[in-house]
Amino acid sequence: MNPAPRWRYDEERHSGVDFSAPEEAAAYDAYMQKMRDIGGEVATIKAALGLSPADVLLDLGCGTGETALGLAPHCAAVHAVDVSREMVRLAAAKANTRGLANVRFAQAGFLTCDYPAATFDAVLSQIALHHLPDHWKHVALRRIHALLKPGGRFLLQDAVLPSGERDLDAYFAGLVAAVAAAGGEKVARDTETTLRDEHLTLDWIMEGLLARAGFAILSVTSAPPFITTYLCVKQESA
Ligand SMILES: C[S@@+](CC[C@H](N)C(=O)[O-])C[C@H]1O[C@@H](n2cnc3c(N)ncnc32)[C@H](O)[C@@H]1O
Repeated sequence: MNPAPRWRYDEERHSGVDFSAPEEAAAYDAYMQKMRDIGGEVATIKAALGLSPADVLLDLGCGTGETALGLAPHCAAVHAVDVSREMVRLAAAKANTRGLANVRFAQAGFLTCDYPAATFDAVLSQIALHHLPDHWKHVALRRIHALLKPGGRFLLQDAVLPSGERDLDAYFAGLVAAVAAAGGEKVARDTETTLRDEHLTLDWIMEGLLARAGFAILSVTSAPPFITTYLCVKQESA
């Protein structure tokens, strides 16, 4: 196999929170179980993606796998991919414990996961794409477009910044305070790291990136503190 070109973004360098560290992965999993309504998320995502029992789903940046595992009983197969070996290890252990045999795991990133074109009926990515700078997001979104079958659906959920906000410093301070009140100090510190060191994108840029990658955006929904969900469908003319 040829070595990766030296200009390729190193996805394993982990901008911001280091999810390759076992203690970070374990802390994230505990936070997920406590703070998120996974059953509700699974129901919403299943309906939005229109998943049916014959479908093959890709979850990119699957983390510790709760959503992928929740969706597995509704699909023929789920491919759960994350750049952190430790996150994948925790997710695979849970799949094993829960007796879910139709989930395949891979340690890989948006830029390196390796599947033939038009493999998937649907692609999901939650709170992970912001680890890439914008021009690499463009590359990642073009790859996702290629991996989808004609008419395939893509649900992208990520931290996106509101361009209408006049005072981003005040916005960030309010956001960190809200996260601290809801989730405690550790999550607040992680949110500061995310705002400082990760690659959050403004709303209008994200919409442009999706459109130029060949997606039609069917709906956009925002949830506090700064998560936006784009439901998209693959267009053929990209
Ligand atoms: C905040 S967690 C979200 C995990 C999961 N999707 C969820 O909703 O709980 C972000 C995940 O993105 C992964 N990640 C970071 N950079 C990535 C990349 N370039 N490709 C794939 N996954 C990446 C991290 O390892 C981490 O598991």
